[in-house]
Amino acid sequence: MRTQVGIIGAGPAGLLLSHLLTQRGIESVLVENRSRAYCEARQRAGLLEDGTVKLLREAGLAQRLDTEGLEHGGIYLQFAGERHHLDFRELTGRTVTIYAQTEIVKDLIARRLADGGALEFEVSGTAVAGLGTARPVLSYTTAGGDRRELVCDAIAGCDGFHGICRPTIPADLLTVRDRAYPYAWLGITAEVPPSTDELIYNHHREGFALHTMRTPQVSRFYLQVRPDERIGDWPDDRIWAALQRRLALPGWELKEGPILDKAITPMRSFVSAPMRYGRLFLAGDAAHIVPPTGAKGLNLAVADVTVLANTLARLVQGDTQAADGYSDACLDRVWRATHFSWWMTSMLHTIPGGDPMDTDLQLAQLRYVTTSRAAATSLAENYTGYPPLR
Ligand code: FAD
Ligand code: PHB
Repeated sequence: MRTQVGIIGAGPAGLLLSHLLTQRGIESVLVENRSRAYCEARQRAGLLEDGTVKLLREAGLAQRLDTEGLEHGGIYLQFAGERHHLDFRELTGRTVTIYAQTEIVKDLIARRLADGGALEFEVSGTAVAGLGTARPVLSYTTAGGDRRELVCDAIAGCDGFHGICRPTIPADLLTVRDRAYPYAWLGITAEVPPSTDELIYNHHREGFALHTMRTPQVSRFYLQVRPDERIGDWPDDRIWAALQRRLALPGWELKEGPILDKAITPMRSFVSAPMRYGRLFLAGDAAHIVPPTGAKGLNLAVADVTVLANTLARLVQGDTQAADGYSDACLDRVWRATHFSWWMTSMLHTIPGGDPMDTDLQLAQLRYVTTSRAAATSLAENYTGYPPLR
């Protein structure tokens, strides 16, 4: 069988790429080893940069985002018993939007199917070959048990951090930067209206906490925990008690409600370069991971595939030079976001075994970003996002 672009992974990167390619008149087949229901229910990111919202709008994908998304003009930073507001709208003229990754994935799958896109869920045995040739091959076994071989012009590895594409690149051709952090996030979704109008990032001696949200009826929270912590050791009462202690502020009340889901996510910074090997192009988490404190993972995936769609449009028309610039065009932004995510993470998390010097340095930095317009603008500029890439 033949297609122009073989795409592996039905996360935001793979799904959006297949849509952008269709808009450019390019045919693709997307394969995913999980079920559609699983992809649509996986709880992950929730915050979209200004540029991500604009890109989704330009791509004709923002119908529900524009009615259900919650536009936020800033965030709160809480530390040393005080809550400070950073006004992004005033500092940068830009805003961010709360709209869950689950909803973006649902919107994209619905649109791909409506447009007659080729999506194959529940495949197994995904493999790639011939990456150094002009006709790479994507092979897989369908949910029905048929083995397929797809001859492509290019393959997009949008298969996340644990996917098969990055490991097919010879290790001696890759430069990998990797840092694991000595903490993880316990994330919960709760059926209770948010107790805040905008996100609260909270520094606390017991550990970081974040109050975010999904809808006017559904809140989301994260707690810093040890990376080896087991979710079974965190009954609902213990989670609420920790959130109440860490987020407490005189005169402010944290509302509680039934917990709908909970999970622990380890945190790491990881960048693998280059993001291309012959006719294999990596995008999103397949190539880079950031800790979620800067809310960048999903936004980077969207930026990568925007560049990739344009690169592939030129490649399939015979412009073989087009591929050369892809990796560098993405990596500039990836490294900026990697730095920002590391910086936010380091400023806000308790260091296990850290001494009071570490805490006082964090507090000095937090005071600086909440009192200096220059420092606040720098945070706001990074948080709301970077200029669009093409
Ligand atoms: P993914 O969403 O990981 O999609 C990759 C897809 O490829 C998956 O559907 C996978 O099943 C599929 N796949 C893998 N291997 C194969 C194979 N061999 N064959 C076929 N298909 C395959 N970011 C934030 O900004 N805020 C957050 O709060 C946040 N929380 C997160 C929590 C978790 C647990 C994780 C893992 C990530 C989180 N992120 C967060 C990051 C953000 O969700 C990711 O950056 C984003 O999902 C990247 O999209 P992607 O399409 O590149 O990869
Ligand atoms: C989320 O809403 O899930 C979210 C928001 C901001 C972050 C991380 C996660 O920094």
